Amino acid sequence: MDVDLPTGRSEEFAGRTILLGVTGGIAAYKSAALASAWTQRGAVVRVLMTRAASKFVTPLTFQSVTRQPVAADIWRAEEAGGYRPEHIDAGDSADLFLVAPATADFLARAAHGFADDIVCLTLLAHQGPVAFAPAMNDKMWAHPAVQANVDVHRQRGVHVIEPGEGHLACGSVGPGRLAELSEIDRQVTAILTSA
Ligand SMILES: Cc1cc2nc3c(=O)[nH]c(=O)nc-3n(C[C@H](O)[C@H](O)[C@H](O)COP(=O)(O)O)c2cc1C
Repeated sequence: MDVDLPTGRSEEFAGRTILLGVTGGIAAYKSAALASAWTQRGAVVRVLMTRAASKFVTPLTFQSVTRQPVAADIWRAEEAGGYRPEHIDAGDSADLFLVAPATADFLARAAHGFADDIVCLTLLAHQGPVAFAPAMNDKMWAHPAVQANVDVHRQRGVHVIEPGEGHLACGSVGPGRLAELSEIDRQVTAILTSA
C-alpha cells in the first residue's frame, strides 16, 4: 500500500467538503490514510460508515484523523435532537461523495436506490460529483451481477475508480484490490479541480 500521499495545504482541497463513505471490506483501513491526507490539505472530510465497515475500522479512527464527527448510524443525529436530518445536511454540503472501499453489496444497494444505511441514504440526497472505488475478491469483481451494477453506476455518471490487480486479502491474485491510494488521490484531485 502506498500511503506516501502529499499532506501540505493545497488549493484543490482547502475549503472543500468531501463525503467519504466507507463500506465493509478489508480495505476499509486504507481509507483512513486518504481521510488524513485530505484533512491535512485543508478539506473538511465527513466520514459515513456502514455497520459492516465499523467491524473493520472503528469510527473513532476516522473521527481522530478528520477531527469531525463520523456518521455510522442513520438514527444518531435524530436521537441527539438534530433539527435537520444529518443525511440531508451532509448530502447538500459536499463537493464530492467518494465511497472507498465500495463493496459488492453496497454497489448493488446503491444501483437500486436503497436508503437503509447512512451511506446509501446520504448518496440519494447528494447532487454533486460521485466516485466509487470498488474492492473485493477477484471472482466477486468478475461476477456478471457486480459488473452489471457497476455499469449502471457508470451510466449515471459515477466516476468508477477501477480496482487494481495483485495480492488480495483472501489469498487470491487478480483484479479486485482497492486502487492504489495515489491513483484514488489523483482522480479525486482531478474531480475537485474540474468541479
Ligand atoms: C473478513 C471479511 C472481508 C470482506 N471483504 C470484502 C471485500 O473486500 N469486498 C466486498 O465487497 N465484501 C467483503 N466482505 C463482505 C461484506 O462485508 C458484506 O457483503 C457486507 O454485507 C457489506 O456490507 P456494506 O456494503 O453495508 O458495508 C467481507 C466480509 C468479511 C467477513
